[in-house]
Amino acid sequence: MCGIIGYTGHRPAVPIVIEGLKRLEYRGYDSSGVAFIQNRSLLSIRAEGKLEMLEQKLAKSDPYLATTGMGHTRWATHGAPNEQNAHPHQDQTGRLALVHNGIIENYQSLKQDLKQEGVIFQSETDTEVLVQLISHLMKRDELGLPEAISRTLQQVEGAYALAVISADHPDELWAARNSSPLLLGVGTGENFVASDIPAFLASTREVVFLDDHELVCIRPDSWRVYSGHTLEPVDKAPQHVDWDVQSAQKSGHKHFMIKEILEQPGVIRDCLAGRVDRDRGRVVLKELETLAVPARLHIVACGTSFHAGLWAKYILEQWSGLAVQVDIASEFRYRDPIVLPEDLVIVISQSGETADTLAGLRIAREKGVPVLGICNVLGSAVARESDLVLYTQAGPEISVASTKAMCSQMVLLVLLALYWGQESGRLKSASLSRALQEMEGLPERLEKALPALRETAGFLAQTYSAARSFFYLGRGSNYPLALEGALKLKEISYIHAEGYAAGEMKHGPIALIDANLPTFALITENDLLPKLRSNLQEVQARGGPVIGLTSSALDVGAEDRWEIPRAWGVLDAFFMLPALQLFAYEMAVYLGKDVDQPRNLAKSVTVE
Ligand code: G6P
Repeated sequence: MCGIIGYTGHRPAVPIVIEGLKRLEYRGYDSSGVAFIQNRSLLSIRAEGKLEMLEQKLAKSDPYLATTGMGHTRWATHGAPNEQNAHPHQDQTGRLALVHNGIIENYQSLKQDLKQEGVIFQSETDTEVLVQLISHLMKRDELGLPEAISRTLQQVEGAYALAVISADHPDELWAARNSSPLLLGVGTGENFVASDIPAFLASTREVVFLDDHELVCIRPDSWRVYSGHTLEPVDKAPQHVDWDVQSAQKSGHKHFMIKEILEQPGVIRDCLAGRVDRDRGRVVLKELETLAVPARLHIVACGTSFHAGLWAKYILEQWSGLAVQVDIASEFRYRDPIVLPEDLVIVISQSGETADTLAGLRIAREKGVPVLGICNVLGSAVARESDLVLYTQAGPEISVASTKAMCSQMVLLVLLALYWGQESGRLKSASLSRALQEMEGLPERLEKALPALRETAGFLAQTYSAARSFFYLGRGSNYPLALEGALKLKEISYIHAEGYAAGEMKHGPIALIDANLPTFALITENDLLPKLRSNLQEVQARGGPVIGLTSSALDVGAEDRWEIPRAWGVLDAFFMLPALQLFAYEMAVYLGKDVDQPRNLAKSVTVE
């Protein structure tokens, strides 16, 4: 939520900042702005709405020659999403500008104090307090900029990633973080700070991951990290990231979402790479070598990542024999969960910065329970704070609706279930080899299947485009997929959809069934099939049409039958998931919705 980019170097800053904002727009898109220093004056341009509104405004002005600048794309928390509340915010003198991602929890009292000192505020945001306080301390206590930033940060409570520029120091940009992401990109004759790597990936792949309470100063030819409290220098070294620019661009696709759905075969391949010993038919998870097989597992996550966790419960219990509890992070963090030192808490997060998931992680650690983080973003808070990390290696996911990240999480969770089954001796080596063989065959099979899946998804989306509501039903491990199918449809097409455990339908939701409410049934040929069939007949008896998404050749009597390739047992999820994603995608495209940036949503939810 909210994206920040800062630049100082030898090239014009404004176009670089705008390009960076385009890569960060997934983080928030209700308003945006830039600030830059030109001829020792600070200029700021902001606009309500999407980034293109800001670009239109900038196009009307003179070319900007500034070589230091910063930008922000906003997902509103405090104050309406209008131009006045858009970042950057400036101090009273107009010599300082600041962008911020996060929430300042004690901003009301700080604002009150500053008002009493005569400071006049221009916006309703919590952010403005930061820049006004820095400026006030500089003036009142005759502090330099870093000292004033440091003192300010010691007074604020809450989460922040921020960047500050001053007209009095035209070649300098200061930035700091606490609980919100901020990275430093090290270039040649230029340096960057940003909320996420894709923002500067076109210019550099050398990244310094900042820690909480660190402050950084970038200049064109140098950078330095300091302790935010003492201003003592901190030694940091850049790390090379191997994401390529291509992976953060649409590469000819109309939307990031379809690009990311179609990338899933490669994602499965990358996620398996180096983790399967083919000759010995074993799973190799080096990251877990020091960890004994846990007594119980607790999975904590939000949104789509939660659905991946719920799906994994079925296979973890079956293959590894471990008891698994799965919690929505915002619930886990506020109850008193019983987690014991011999347990393992697994937190799943694509971004690695979801506030509730992070809080769950911290609670587990406070209780002395080891935490395994499954995340996609290198150096993210989840990655840094977990005892052990498994990276999903899915590459940047830009579309707000998560697709390939869930696929990669599921691959890792399959590997984990097999690994603990193997380590505890519960899983027979024949089953293990069979599962691994199936997994390794998936990328090629999925690659071949995707064009036809997309075509059917498009046809069905058009057929059912008048429906105002959908049910998604599944039993067993198809139940979490039903939840995910419904979530995807809601997120991007704004059609109401409910995912339900098929057997629970008769306990209430069936009252809603009529001819205008289609039911998406997720059908796998297993022991539960006869039961699912009965549930579908109950729907049909009440006039509800059924779309049968099935990996079984058996006739399930659906009004529309969508057959997908069959895989070994639960692994047909790796065909079912993309089918559900494609249906939601084609529906949203057909209805003319904003697929990559659906209303009201943000990709990384760093607030509660
Ligand atoms: C937001 C996104 C979802 C995502 C969820 C959890 O709500 O819009 O797509 O599943 O956050 O995100 P995480 O990064 O923790 O997986």
